[in-house]
Amino acid sequence: MIEQILPPGAAGAEAFADPPGVVLFPEEQALVARAAAKRRQEFTTARDCARRALAALGVAAVPVLPGERGAPRWPAGLVGSITHCSGYRAAAVARASQLLTLGLDAEPDAALPEGVLPRVTSPAERARLRALAAAAPGTSWDRLLFSAKEATYKAWFPLTGRWLGFEDADVTISPADGTFRARLLVPGPVLGGAPLAAFPGRWLAADGLLVTAVTLPA
Ligand SMILES: CC(C)(COP(=O)(O)OP(=O)(O)OC[C@H]1O[C@@H](n2cnc3c(N)ncnc32)[C@H](O)[C@@H]1OP(=O)(O)O)[C@@H](O)C(=O)NCCC(=O)NCCS
Repeated sequence: MIEQILPPGAAGAEAFADPPGVVLFPEEQALVARAAAKRRQEFTTARDCARRALAALGVAAVPVLPGERGAPRWPAGLVGSITHCSGYRAAAVARASQLLTLGLDAEPDAALPEGVLPRVTSPAERARLRALAAAAPGTSWDRLLFSAKEATYKAWFPLTGRWLGFEDADVTISPADGTFRARLLVPGPVLGGAPLAAFPGRWLAADGLLVTAVTLPA
């Protein structure tokens, strides 16, 4: 389903279970050798997704290791992102000549745990969430907004190398066309001579999952 929210030029791969027999590179293996089983499984399947996505671009299998602050390091000339949640793992990559940055996130389509919403949203965002919930109660709009912010951070960080807090972007979800917009409330990276004002994103809800993707064209 991930291809539905990726632009042309990006390649995605996903998994709804952890297939047996995925082989990690030794340097990847070393990273999760002492991790809990859950972490080892999500890491391993996400690497399999990453290599399938790379293969779709004609790029040979390489280790996908964490770089600065956990951001995945891709081969030169590529951008990409990884996500995993219960019952879902995915990766997407693109040539840097096509996309400037790419951020991906997945969450279960279930309400955020008690107490999280006020920490990740503004009063204005919460008012819009109430309107969405009233109009279309079938989707966990609060969790979708959270996911949109995580995808925004994953697209922001490789561009800036800086932290972006939940209070630093104002997210508006468009239910009709499956898009969202993360308006930056802090100075954005300067692109083409002007600071970026907002990240555009796409979202989908299917099979009990919410998946979001933020991309900027090169
Ligand atoms: C880093 C973060 C975004 C990960 O999201 P998550 O929902 O917890 O977990 P996911 O499974 O979806 O994503 C994990 C993957 O994100 C990637 N990731 C981690 N840090 C990253 C960073 N700084 N930049 C880009 N990608 C990053 C990694 O590939 C990681 O998987 P891996 O460890 O197997 O390689 C989240 O933990 C976080 O720190 N959020 C706070 C910042 C934020 O979201 N601000 C909102 C701005 S509006």
